[in-house]
Amino acid sequence: MSNHRPNYAPGRYAHIVGWGMEAPTRTLTNDDLAQMVDTSDEWIRERTGISERRIADAGDSPITLGLRAARKALASADMLPDELDLIVVATSSPVYLFPATACVIQDKLGAGHAGAFDVMAACTGFIYALGIAAAQIKIGAIDTALVIGTETLSRIVDWSDRGTCILFGDGAGAFILRESDAPGGVLEVVMHSDGSGGNLLYAPSGIRSQWDAPEAIPVNARMNGAEVFRFATHVMASATREVVERAGLRLEDIDWVVPHQANLRIIQSAMGRLKLPEERVVINISRYGNTSTASIPMAVVEAVESGQIGPDNRLVLVGFGGGLTWGAAIIEWEVTPKRPAPVRELMREAGYILAAIRSFLRRLWRFLEALILRER
Ligand code: ACO
Repeated sequence: MSNHRPNYAPGRYAHIVGWGMEAPTRTLTNDDLAQMVDTSDEWIRERTGISERRIADAGDSPITLGLRAARKALASADMLPDELDLIVVATSSPVYLFPATACVIQDKLGAGHAGAFDVMAACTGFIYALGIAAAQIKIGAIDTALVIGTETLSRIVDWSDRGTCILFGDGAGAFILRESDAPGGVLEVVMHSDGSGGNLLYAPSGIRSQWDAPEAIPVNARMNGAEVFRFATHVMASATREVVERAGLRLEDIDWVVPHQANLRIIQSAMGRLKLPEERVVINISRYGNTSTASIPMAVVEAVESGQIGPDNRLVLVGFGGGLTWGAAIIEWEVTPKRPAPVRELMREAGYILAAIRSFLRRLWRFLEALILRER
């Protein structure tokens, strides 16, 4: 990253004021996987630290999981969807190339004043999305943002490939960001990429190779595990160091590191390079596996809700993924959750029903308008 310092508006900070996560209820254990491919619970736990992962129900998708996480985040911020200026969704398993997952969620929330788009930076996507949203707030372009990481990776995993299928799971996490004049919030974000390593970790989009090709390419995630492992341990450590330095802090000033939950051994090796004890690292990989863009916000939300992360804590979020991409964010977590006012709770719930009705009426109106115009 260059030494250019952005011109943020003086006295504007981007605080995380709401958070929520969604984990599907269905669990797939290592023993379940051992019935499907040639593997064992012992091998998976030893090499990855994963014991089980969640699998989204039929009918669920990054849209529905992301929507539920977003609603919880809005509730914890005690905000109405109408107050959102921007929705950024990071996902590696979108249902559509377009519309963006963010637009579908915008409609379902009834966030009538929000711009909405997706970020594709694989597992680093949430860090990228957070960086974009925080910068928009800090330059004064917007006041509020919803940032979501959401995945149904189970739909793009090749369940016959034991090298990848043991790793991934489904889930979603969301943050609400709001402008404040109180120092703190998202202090710094660093983002990096190296497209020369794109072949190490990829999933085709399913687009046909040429216009008259009969079949689309299957959308299966492929990976060179050993190479990704080597890259990951290196960049998780370097990005953590970089973001801490940028904020003018030292590693000793950090209360918690929340790494992308890809492999426990990657986390241990990266934290070992930084000489950071495991007691200061948030780890939940054993229960969820690698949920790509959702892994960091899910780990943060669990740690906040269990009281592990508390007000005034300084966190580093750090991730890596396909692209290759990597990045880190440093956050001062100052906010104690609000107790939602019952009347606003009711307004939010009524608002979601109204949003569905409004969306239906808009579609109907477009249909009727097209009919009327055609007849003229
Ligand atoms: N069960 C049993 N044996 C297995 C399995 C399995 N599930 N998978 C591989 N093996 C075997 C291999 O075939 C190999 O056997 P061999 O020695 O007879 O050839 C042996 O185990 C060792 O294989 P390695 O690939 O060297 O095992 P490794 O210790 O590297 O672990 C793993 C593999 C877990 C995939 C590891 O490399 C890893 O975690 N890499 C990083 C993955 C990652 O973080 N991806 C990020 C995705 S982020 C995103 O953007 C989507």
